[in-house]
Amino acid sequence: MTEPKRLHVITWGCQMNVYDSGRMADVLAPLGYAPVSAPEDADMVILNTCHIRDRAAAKVFSELGRLRVMKEASGGKMILAVAGCVAQAEGAEILARAPYVDIVLGPQTYHRLPEMVALASRAGNQVIETDFPAEDKFDHLPESQTPQGVTAFLTIQEGCDKFCSFCVVPYTRGAEQSRSAATIVREARHLVSQGTREITLLGQNVNAWHGDGTDGMTWGLGRLLRELSDIPDLLRLRYTTSHPRDMSDDLIAAHRDLPAVMPYLHLPVQSGSDRMLAAMNRKHTADDFRRVIGKLRDARPDMALSSDFIVGHPGETEADFEATMALIREVNFAMAYSFKYSQRPGTPAAGAPAQVPESEKDRRLQALQGLLREQQVGFNDSCVGLDLPVLITGPGRHPGQIGGRSPFLQAVHLSGSTDLIGTELMVRIVENYPNSLAGTLVQERRIA
Ligand code: 5AD
Ligand code: SF4
Repeated sequence: MTEPKRLHVITWGCQMNVYDSGRMADVLAPLGYAPVSAPEDADMVILNTCHIRDRAAAKVFSELGRLRVMKEASGGKMILAVAGCVAQAEGAEILARAPYVDIVLGPQTYHRLPEMVALASRAGNQVIETDFPAEDKFDHLPESQTPQGVTAFLTIQEGCDKFCSFCVVPYTRGAEQSRSAATIVREARHLVSQGTREITLLGQNVNAWHGDGTDGMTWGLGRLLRELSDIPDLLRLRYTTSHPRDMSDDLIAAHRDLPAVMPYLHLPVQSGSDRMLAAMNRKHTADDFRRVIGKLRDARPDMALSSDFIVGHPGETEADFEATMALIREVNFAMAYSFKYSQRPGTPAAGAPAQVPESEKDRRLQALQGLLREQQVGFNDSCVGLDLPVLITGPGRHPGQIGGRSPFLQAVHLSGSTDLIGTELMVRIVENYPNSLAGTLVQERRIA
């Protein structure tokens, strides 16, 4: 028997990191590690970091300072690991500046955590693993031990070959890599057997997925969705994050043909100005994006859209910014994320001469977020009075309440029994609150 040990994982950043944190816990479970909610109580703490925007490294060092105190309180026994994209980009610097860190590991090496823990447990050893190993990490991961719940993430693709001017991902996550359909379907079935009813397929460029199919052919994401939608009891499928250039006709047809594929898509466009899109190396124009949206709406008239925007990329003029605002007005987004451009070391845009002043970025971001907020409220308002299928994911905040999500990822709460968790119900939306919708049960559609 392995001795029970306590693991605490701190997760920053994207959904891929959330998934990775779960998988790291799975890899460590055979060594006796079980999750605990407070770092003070843990024998091992993993800080899973994000490098995408501002002050990423400074934030890591400040958190490490806090964890150092806990490690000292444990008599130096606590194992401290830094994982994720900051670890990948600044591993050596972390070990030098924070010598009390035991393990630094990049996103491609966490299947080797047991060896790293064994090495680090020998007093005084620091371990760094930030290569991109040739073996496929996914072939070396155990089946997930801890059920993710009614909704789950499943990484099918990692890395990026697009090299947008502003972005660190191609450097921290490496080249595009797709898992095979067989391993994805196996993992999806396993999740469903543990009670999952909605799976979100993850990838930095998820719609660029092209993997070995179960028939010996190379499949695209549309074909994979068809295969997954045949899994009994898997009610809903989503995928994120996509690139406009990879929205193939077959994938759009999957939205038309498969009821399990939700009519909601996160499709980052970043800017509405062709000049900026070229400077960003996005390899598409604003009209290309409009055409894709048109096709998606033809395929699924109820399709709701979300996107990412960057204001103040080097060289962005007022006219470029206005082109972004015009695109937003035209498309009408249900939701969106927006950011001020942030210089990332080692990326092409970081050294560009025409950096936009911070005060100008602030002004543009405020205007952009004002418009996006209006559209989000408008979209949520437009749902009031509709009957929407809601997948119940857990209890609500108040006694007697349950909560779930609409096809458009909105949080919905209603009165009902917790026995209904994991079922999809038809719910009449009666009110729009700032962060959720309130509904009443119309009809119960339980799954077998
Ligand atoms: N500055 C600002 N935003 C960025 N993003 C990525 N890199 C940067 C950067 N350097 C945003 C993009 C991307 C999202 C995940 O983060 O909008 O789609
Ligand atoms: Fe970054 Fe562009 Fe790749 Fe997205 S497509 S991960 S923004 S380089």
